[in-house]
Amino acid sequence: MRAVGTVHRDYKISTIDPRLYGSFVEHLGRAVYTGIYEPDHPTADENGMRQDVIDLVRELDVPVVRYPGGNFVSAYNWEDGIGPKEDRPVRLDLAWHTSESNKVGIHEFADWAKAANTEMMLAVNLGSRGLDEARAFLEYVNHPGGSYWSDLRRKNGREEPWNVKLWCLGNEMDGPWQIGQKTAEEYGRVAFETAKAMRAFDKSIELVVCGSSSPKMPTYPAWEATVLDYTYDSVDYISLHMYFENHAGDTAAYLAQNARLDDYIETIASVIKVTKAKKRSKKDVYISFDEWNVWYHSNEADRKVLEGRDGWPHAPELLEDIYNFEDVLQVGCILNTFIRRADVVKVGCLAQLVNVIAPIMTVPGGPAWRQTTYYPYLFASRYGRGTSYQLSIDSPTYSTDFAEAVPYLDVSAVESETDGALTLFIVNRHETDAISLDVALEGFGTRKVIMDKVIVGHELKAVNGPDKQPVAPVDGSGVTVEEGRLTGEIAPLSYRMIRLGQ
Ligand code: AHR
Repeated sequence: MRAVGTVHRDYKISTIDPRLYGSFVEHLGRAVYTGIYEPDHPTADENGMRQDVIDLVRELDVPVVRYPGGNFVSAYNWEDGIGPKEDRPVRLDLAWHTSESNKVGIHEFADWAKAANTEMMLAVNLGSRGLDEARAFLEYVNHPGGSYWSDLRRKNGREEPWNVKLWCLGNEMDGPWQIGQKTAEEYGRVAFETAKAMRAFDKSIELVVCGSSSPKMPTYPAWEATVLDYTYDSVDYISLHMYFENHAGDTAAYLAQNARLDDYIETIASVIKVTKAKKRSKKDVYISFDEWNVWYHSNEADRKVLEGRDGWPHAPELLEDIYNFEDVLQVGCILNTFIRRADVVKVGCLAQLVNVIAPIMTVPGGPAWRQTTYYPYLFASRYGRGTSYQLSIDSPTYSTDFAEAVPYLDVSAVESETDGALTLFIVNRHETDAISLDVALEGFGTRKVIMDKVIVGHELKAVNGPDKQPVAPVDGSGVTVEEGRLTGEIAPLSYRMIRLGQ
């Protein structure tokens, strides 16, 4: 099998916003407690944060982390998490039926974000609360001093404001599971008024309004049209969420699911355009894909825990998906889709970062370890920043019941903003056949392979664990560049990253 194509330096898609490679930490399960925070852990820093986890987050080079939820935010009082820890109330978290100790709040999370070399993306509660708490929270976080909330922050030990740029106006407000679910009209009005108040404080913040929680929602995509009708000129991004699963055990169909992601992005990009025209607006609204991942391995276990429970445990094991090699390929395809749609998707958050549907897992009192999906995320985050290029590749294809002509080779290309290298991210979805790749490099000068990493040769269901991480990248070989053409064999069921330098 052969795939032949071209990448041309004149055919750029877009500059990639580095925040495309963000992530998410929610007060859910063990994401915060025994995830990022474990004061008794041997590696804990002076704030009780696990240094081993911080080291992995730094290795991933995560540009932004969404916090504190998720569903959790819709009944959260951010004031519960400030002031002396011993005075903070324990609350019942209605989203996940657990107890929240509030030992971690905005101060602790901000200190962690600094240590982890990442920015905060904060969500306000538009479920059980509204405009008033949003403006108070914003003033607490971003105002230098001389007002009630900013002085309270200073009294609580933080002199300088954190100057958080990116704010989410609630979370998944279309979902019946959400505390304070709203119709599109109700939410559109509340989001508009909240945005107005937040902008009255600071015009330069960036606001994310909730789109549908998934394209499966009955109100999709009318929800986006209505919500943007209310908010178009007041917000910068509309948020989309999508989770991927393989309950059917059909690898070919599973790995074709980024076709659905493409449709989702394309549809909402169209709704944005229509609304812009309708409003005669000069500004653009982009997509914040602030929850995406594979999420299904833990469904059964979670159902049992949530249905059988009569108490309110603190930080129980929830959503602890253990990812396999097949998921490496899936995550690679999803990231490729985002790179190819970097013209409209500016922010992305892998949901989530630690323990909860996460690339990083921890053992309480023990090690932090890398899941299989850690690696495609690592490579995209580290080497996928710069300019995204249009690729024209004629690959053999296959069909599923929801997508026609799915190319076996899923490829994206990025020219690095730092070292100028051209990086190809490649997934071969073919289950048995290698594909000979032949790509003409037009306008990129003389290039040679400077890095070649591959994840290949594992059982589809192979996983990593705290003691052993067999699913990991190794050096690839056999790819060459001669006379402006990159050629090489791409093994069946493989994830590959090839970097071409001068
Ligand atoms: O990421 C897990 C949950 O998925 C989030 O809390 C919610 O926003 C979504 O439904």
